[in-house]
Amino acid sequence: MDRIRIVGGNALNGIIPISGAKNAALPLMIASLLTSDTLTLENVPHLADVENLLRILGNHGVDISVNGRREHQDGSYSRTVHFTCRTIADTTAPYELVSKMRASFWVIGPLLARCGQARVSLPGGCAIGTRPVDLFIEGLEALGAEMEIDGGYINARAPQGGLIGARYTFPKVSVGATHVMLMAASLARGTTVIGNAAREPEVVDLANCLIAMGAKITGAGTSTITIEGVTSLSGARHRVLPDRIETGTYAMAVAMTGGDVTLAGTEIGLLDTAIEAIRRAGAEVSAVENGIRIIGHGDQIRPVDIVTEPYPGFPTDLQAQFMGLMTRAQGVSHVTETIFENRFMHVQELARLGAKITLNGQTARIEGVSRLRGAPVMATDLRASVSLVIAGLAAEGETMVSRVYHLDRGFERLEEKLTRCGAIVERISD
Ligand code: UD1
Repeated sequence: MDRIRIVGGNALNGIIPISGAKNAALPLMIASLLTSDTLTLENVPHLADVENLLRILGNHGVDISVNGRREHQDGSYSRTVHFTCRTIADTTAPYELVSKMRASFWVIGPLLARCGQARVSLPGGCAIGTRPVDLFIEGLEALGAEMEIDGGYINARAPQGGLIGARYTFPKVSVGATHVMLMAASLARGTTVIGNAAREPEVVDLANCLIAMGAKITGAGTSTITIEGVTSLSGARHRVLPDRIETGTYAMAVAMTGGDVTLAGTEIGLLDTAIEAIRRAGAEVSAVENGIRIIGHGDQIRPVDIVTEPYPGFPTDLQAQFMGLMTRAQGVSHVTETIFENRFMHVQELARLGAKITLNGQTARIEGVSRLRGAPVMATDLRASVSLVIAGLAAEGETMVSRVYHLDRGFERLEEKLTRCGAIVERISD
């Protein structure tokens, strides 16, 4: 199993190209199941989760062709993928595939809308909470589907004549359930109005792609989305939006190590709340042409309290990284997690590097220390593992991160991007 070895202490300087967003690429790829024409996606990141979903889509009958090439001197890499699903070969998404990644459960929306039936295994994914699927079930039932759980699978069936548009308000904001409702309602008969919809940029990206495919959607990016169903969707060409979580992660790394880095190919407006928190912590962040420039001062980090919330609030996917930054703040800060009930597994690993963190329910109290010291640590989930990497970059001596397959699910060419900016990071394959 691969490990990552980091020797901390170097400031980061240079350019880091930001990849296409994993959390946008996944639902966009799944949207290819909605049409028999070709959907072409540009800027698709090369990540374990994406490769896993390619296998799942292939199983449903999607024909896939990939073109990848290195583009610019900054090391950015562009991948364009063509998806063609002439007919759905199989409406079952099996346990062996779905258990690896929660988002693969989302195929239930297009399969049901296009074929009138789907049998999808209950999902797996990061162990960061119970992560139920009740909102998907309720939402699809509102569109007339019959949903039944049987032997670890959800059997879904649309009424004769297909799904029927309806008014449905989510009792809780869910990104995944909003994606699924958008895709399912696009091919339903009549109008659907989704209340309390997720407002994440990735939802807007999916809606824009569906609109390019011929869907009639208004209001994406607000909490009320209206979808007028159409009888079929066509192909389209769409560019995956930049990864705001990768952007925020590297911005926090620079805030922590010090240095001057341009994050290329991303947009400051995708992560206003996180940028505001990074600025309050003392780093300088500015929008530049085609990206964001960040200047960090390393040892003068100010304590900042944050609370995770659905977009546009502070993203839960940046919580672990921000806590990493706060371990070296000059004072006490608090990090409160409101989205997932078990998303503090990085706390004990950060403590191995010398961080002083105490947990009280959903709030962590972090007492900044003047130095962290390298140690062996273990990655526990996708975002937690990258918080250990950035803490390792700021620690004295060597940090060895094991179980890095978590990192490979969501961070494209991490070692290469950091090494180009002066960090000492290497992958060790045993
Ligand atoms: C997506 C992101 C993930 C991010 C999360 C929250 C992708 C691939 N993943 O995950 O990185 O951390 O949004 O921003 O885009 N819930 C229910 N019932 C349901 C569905 C969800 O109670 O049927 C709960 C979850 O347990 C959680 C909350 O709703 O507490 C939000 O989860 P959700 O927005 O659905 O997360 P994902 O879409 O799985």
